[in-house]
Amino acid sequence: MQKKWWHGKVAYQIYPKSFMDGNGDGIGDLKGIISKLDYLKELGVDIIWLSPVYQSPFVDQGYDISDYYKIAEEFGTMEEFDLLLCEAGKRDLQIVMDLVINHCSDQHEWFQKALKEPEGEYADYFYFRRGKNGNPPSNYRSYFGGSAWEQVPGTDKYYLHMFAKEQPDLNWENPVVRQKLFEMINWWLDKGIAGFRIDAIINIKKHLDFPDFEADGPDGLCACTKMVESVDGVGEFLEELKENTFSRYDAFTVGEVFNMKEEALEEFVGEDGYFSSMFDFASHVLSEGKNGWYDAKDIEFKEWKQAVIDSQMNCQGKAYLSNIIENHDEPRGASRYLPDYARNPAGIKMLGTVNVLLRGIPFIYQGQEIGMTNCRMRDISEYDDLDTHNQYERALSAGLTKEEALEVCYKYSRDNARTPMQWNDEANAGFTKGIPWMRVNDNYKEVNVEAQRRDADSVLSYYKKLIALRKSEEWKEVFVYGEFCPLFEESEKVFAFSRILGEKKVMVLANFGRDAEIVALPSEIDKVLLGNRECIGDIKDTVSLEACEVLVFSLK
Ligand code: GLC
Ligand code: CA
Repeated sequence: MQKKWWHGKVAYQIYPKSFMDGNGDGIGDLKGIISKLDYLKELGVDIIWLSPVYQSPFVDQGYDISDYYKIAEEFGTMEEFDLLLCEAGKRDLQIVMDLVINHCSDQHEWFQKALKEPEGEYADYFYFRRGKNGNPPSNYRSYFGGSAWEQVPGTDKYYLHMFAKEQPDLNWENPVVRQKLFEMINWWLDKGIAGFRIDAIINIKKHLDFPDFEADGPDGLCACTKMVESVDGVGEFLEELKENTFSRYDAFTVGEVFNMKEEALEEFVGEDGYFSSMFDFASHVLSEGKNGWYDAKDIEFKEWKQAVIDSQMNCQGKAYLSNIIENHDEPRGASRYLPDYARNPAGIKMLGTVNVLLRGIPFIYQGQEIGMTNCRMRDISEYDDLDTHNQYERALSAGLTKEEALEVCYKYSRDNARTPMQWNDEANAGFTKGIPWMRVNDNYKEVNVEAQRRDADSVLSYYKKLIALRKSEEWKEVFVYGEFCPLFEESEKVFAFSRILGEKKVMVLANFGRDAEIVALPSEIDKVLLGNRECIGDIKDTVSLEACEVLVFSLK
């Protein structure tokens, strides 16, 4: 594959509201981010993805944008954003913005104008449709529950919202809308950002007849994804988007793509794809419940490993996926992909190693590098996320008790990843001098940056070594361009793979089992590059791995 500037990069996702509060109002902000750039540099990352910082009523935490050209007041000013770009640049860090263009906020001036004149020009920026016999135009359930159609006040029409009703879907069929979005994208790229993470993008293509589908839940509705899956042609929009924007700037783009048709991989992220990369959600979907979080199942090691291997094999030589163990929509990886007995610093380092050394672009989510975990809330009222409230209600309607429903949220809530970043053991984990907008995880006294910085054996110190290894002169080509080869695929306990480029061969060996494992190596060890255990005995062609032990070494 042709080499690209972003192939060897390591990315870090910031959730601005919860990263660092610079002015004491309890909400993270740009000033706070600027104050932590040195920390990120020290960690070794290159690209910073900012979840949305645009003006927004924050119904869906900034994924409902009311002005694409403004910075949310809560986060600061455009001057501060420019300063962030400049300070990042000085440190050779690049900024990637979130691009939310499937929908906007109902407070956006386009939608406000559309409401005022439901037959006018702006109504065609959205999907306004007549209802059927007093019902919405079709039976779609929005991603956040309830009908995906909301009545336009004072009319017999409805507008489509695949997410919350405050997030009306933009009409991509309208060339004026596309043009305005392209202009906006280029305006940001002209500022000097390196690219975009592209939100919920598969949804931009609608089936314009909006046909009903068979109900698939107790609410009598069907998932709106059925409509998305039933239609072709998203590629034409994406090609046009790329041609008019990203490709003119050699931007790095990473798509949030669910429900892609499998054979479309190369079209999306191949050599000449619509995007540079897209997230690998193969592990994430393993715990998708049929009716919601309440009937989701725990992830078994074996199926998780297989999902990771399958994705790796599937994109080999074709595409670079972006690898995550968590993000702002997911519970913490440390509380999800590790068996109970491995939910400790050793296990967390092991999980990080396996993820960061895969083929693709590693994305680290804020707090992952110190092993932040899911957060126990005492009551549903402590959750802010609208989807958590929706899922809680669904669980109750399915007959779960309040305690059981709360337990479900503890496992799967998006707020698990949205609690404030834990900087030190002072009040509010050093995140704010005010009252934090969301509860701080009780474990901040033990799990925090300051303590881990001083401890050479901490998760944070380990992550620094791990990233440094991946980017080291000697090994970076192997980790970026080397082939991924799974090993001991049948093992119920060991996750092992090698990365091979020419003469160079690195092996990653991790024991997810409860007991020690003896592993015979395919050839003799050359040198140990990294491990999460102090003393590594004399190893030649067999290795004894403790539970939760991971070892990275080169082979002769
Ligand atoms: C994406 C975002 C998520 C948001 C949704 C609607 O999935 O990651 O946080 O709620 O899109 O914009
Ligand atoms: Ca603030």
